[in-house]
Amino acid sequence: MFLVWDQSVKYALISDIHANYEALQVVLDDIRQQEVTRIICLGDVIGYGPNPRECLDEVMKRCEFTILGNHDEATLFDPDGFNPVALQAVYWTRDELEKSSGNSAQMNRRWDFLGELPRMHVEGDVMFVHGSARDPTNEYVFPEDVYKRPKLESIFELVTLYCFQGHTHIPGVFTSDFDFISPDECDYEYQLGEQKALINVGSVGQPRDEDNRSSYVLFDPQTKLVQFRRLSYPYEETARKIYNIEELHNSLGDRLHVGR
Ligand SMILES: [Fe+2]
Repeated sequence: MFLVWDQSVKYALISDIHANYEALQVVLDDIRQQEVTRIICLGDVIGYGPNPRECLDEVMKRCEFTILGNHDEATLFDPDGFNPVALQAVYWTRDELEKSSGNSAQMNRRWDFLGELPRMHVEGDVMFVHGSARDPTNEYVFPEDVYKRPKLESIFELVTLYCFQGHTHIPGVFTSDFDFISPDECDYEYQLGEQKALINVGSVGQPRDEDNRSSYVLFDPQTKLVQFRRLSYPYEETARKIYNIEELHNSLGDRLHVGR
């Protein structure tokens, strides 16, 4: 088995930004200092948060490619399986994206970008999805799924070697012997090898592993080392913006304080 992607450069994998501009800026600043040449986004650029346009503009500029997330999809088509809080945020986000602020070309570029996002990207032995290899946009692979062997088995069958994913907002590595290793448990560095692995990169803008810091992953294809990065960002500022927008439920701001 071999990796066909460019082995001479380092990759940054970001996901689930959820319109949190403060978090995105801190993460992109950190990436700038890491000699990263490719930035890949695994979806959910928007939804929940107060700055969908700003986050889309930044991702369109900085990321080599972006995968479609379920919240990105929900702004384009009728949302399915969204709770009332998420649904209301979808409708508010749509309205925001309809605001051109005098630049209708940029507004159209954002809609075109969303409309053209792929559900999956494969390079050699490496796969990139939002949810899972089996259902790239919507399926969650949670740490507790290590106890649902048939589920993980059928997902691993579809992966050639490594699959980078997001969606749960819980970073960590699923090993082919059905273990889940959190960043804490591996001191924020996980050495990939010949065995298959699913790597969840966590969430930039709405972490849910009870650590309120932004999460993203650096990957060096030469050494196959995965580094989990956690960064503090001014979450109170993002929460304040959410509290000031009537359509965004206060719980969306509250959860940023606690990372849940
Ligand atoms: Fe998400």
